[in-house]
Parts: sequence; structure tokens; C-alpha cells
Amino acid sequence: MIVAIDGPSGSGKSSVAREVARRCDLTYLDTGAMYRSVAHACLERGVDPADDAGTAEVARDLRIEFASCGDGQRVLAGGEDVTAQIRTPEVERAVSPVSANPAVREAMVAEQRRFGEAGDVIAEGRDVGTVVFPNADVKVFLSASPEARARRRAVQREGGDLARGVDAAVDAEAERAVLEDLVRRDAYDSSRAASPLRPADDAVRIDSSELSFDEVVQAVIALSPELSARAERGRR
Ligand code: DC
Repeated sequence: MIVAIDGPSGSGKSSVAREVARRCDLTYLDTGAMYRSVAHACLERGVDPADDAGTAEVARDLRIEFASCGDGQRVLAGGEDVTAQIRTPEVERAVSPVSANPAVREAMVAEQRRFGEAGDVIAEGRDVGTVVFPNADVKVFLSASPEARARRRAVQREGGDLARGVDAAVDAEAERAVLEDLVRRDAYDSSRAASPLRPADDAVRIDSSELSFDEVVQAVIALSPELSARAERGRR
């Protein structure tokens, strides 16, 4: 089966997808990590993120793999472990123009579909339900208010994790900066010409602003009898 989860940054879709993968024995595909890996490789090779021909060549050439390790997953690009490097502010800045390039998207979507051929995948991103897997068995569009998302991100940066009930002290100025950055990225992701962020017509929308992490995970699993059965089998 294929499960597609899309939504804006900070909606909690990565943590939710990872947890549903664990409970329902699905392989987790982080499509954002793939765009980040391309952006990182461009920076390493001195390719300008705004150079469409250059970034497309990097995307077509780069071999991106996921390796499970313990409870987590490592991202390998060209054989190099880039798990930490793809989360830096430099990559964060470069990934928007890189992921707006249709030729880069074409290369990534082809890879993602190959990944899906193995079956039993939960993929997470911006266009998974609309473009990558339009026939996915379950489609979710996970959102949350910009304020709720900014708060989660800001707490995360201070070592907390609101999804798990771990709060952390956050400077109001820092939180406002995170909010501004989120709103800017949302606008960019939703207004770009190539695969803008939007819910698939047949996606179930879940707003996580007022829900706990566990409630969101349960709501996703409850959407499909097959997911529920898989989670039940996992509990035994
Ligand atoms: O989900 P994330 O923050 O790791 O995504 C990183 C960037 O990649 C973000 O700017 C949006 C883009 N992205 C995309 O365009 N399409 C996807 N399927 C996933 C991510």
C-alpha cells in the first residue's frame, strides 16, 4: 500500500509519517530530504541554486539512498552520509529555488516512484498525493496554524519536542523570526509554478493545531482499515 502525507513545513508531517511507518510496518520516504540533498550537493559543487541547468544536472547525477539505523534513518547522497548537513540554514536557503526547478522535480519524482514500486511505503512531502502517487491508497493533507507551527519549530531548536510533551523556553523574538520565515516559505512553496503545495482533491485534511501528536497518528491510522489492521498486527 502507499500512504501520502503532504503539508507545509512545521505541520508535524515528518514525525507523524515516521510514527505511522513504525506502527504499521511501512517504509518511510522523506521526499524533502531528497530536495535538501540536491541543494546540499549544489552548494558543495559550487553550483548556483538559481542555475536551473546546473541544478538539474546535479539532481540527475546524484544517487540518493536511505539507510535505516536503529530507530532512525540516515540519508546518503553519492555514498556520503549527509543526514546532518541537509538541515543547515545554508541548505534551507538553497532548497527553495532548487525544488522550484521543474527538471529537478522530474528527476526526484522518477526516483520516488521507483521507491514506491517496492510497495508498503508512507511518503511525505508537498506533492506526494497530487503528483508522485496520485493513486495512493491513503492521502492526508496535514496542516496547522502558522503560529502553532512556528512555536513547535522554535521549541525544537531549543531542544524541546512539543509532539512528545517536552517544552523548552523560547525567546519571543526568535519565535517571531521563525514565524516570519515559515510564512515566507509557505508563500513560496504554494505559489511556485512547478507542483505548488496544495491538497489533492481526495486528500483528507487534518488540522493538528489543537491535537496531540498521538491523536494525529491515530487519526491517520483510523482513515484506512488496512492501516488499522497493520497497526493491530504490530501491537501483537
Ligand atoms: O519538508 P522539508 O522542509 O524537508 O522540505 C524541504 C524543501 O523541499 C521545502 O522547501 C519544500 C521542498 N519540497 C518540495 O518541493 N517537494 C516535496 N515533495 C518535498 C519538499
